[in-house]
Amino acid sequence: MTVTNQESCTNIHKIADGIYRINTPVDLGEGNKFSFNQYLVRDDEPLLFHTGLRKMFPLVKEAVASVMLVEKIRYVAISHVEADGCGSLNEWLAVAPQAEPVCSVVAAMVSVQDIADRPPRALADGEVLSLGSHSLQWHDTPHLPHG
Ligand SMILES: [Fe+2]
Repeated sequence: MTVTNQESCTNIHKIADGIYRINTPVDLGEGNKFSFNQYLVRDDEPLLFHTGLRKMFPLVKEAVASVMLVEKIRYVAISHVEADGCGSLNEWLAVAPQAEPVCSVVAAMVSVQDIADRPPRALADGEVLSLGSHSLQWHDTPHLPHG
């Protein structure tokens, strides 16, 4: 694990070959703690799964930059439309000119086509997106994340 920002304690941890967890711990006070996590697949077509909050963009970008060029991000995938999942989606689209949002068909239809600065790639249930040596398979889970 490497701490990429001393003030926030944002860190990046290689969890598998080419796959990293980016973590920002948050202290909510009174002994309550929370963690924001994003996942990075570094491959021919790198994918960031979740962006974190919009105001966390500099922290997540700094963590990604510790292992690859941020402008090479090809996909920004989101499981659901909330600030923690896609708060900085458009910031990522701005710094990575080839990046496309990736989401479910329903998410594309009801939100992402509207909120994202570039059209999303909507994946159907079971569809596979090749990233190079890794691939992402989409599984529709209507209960996610708060069912
Ligand atoms: Fe969420």
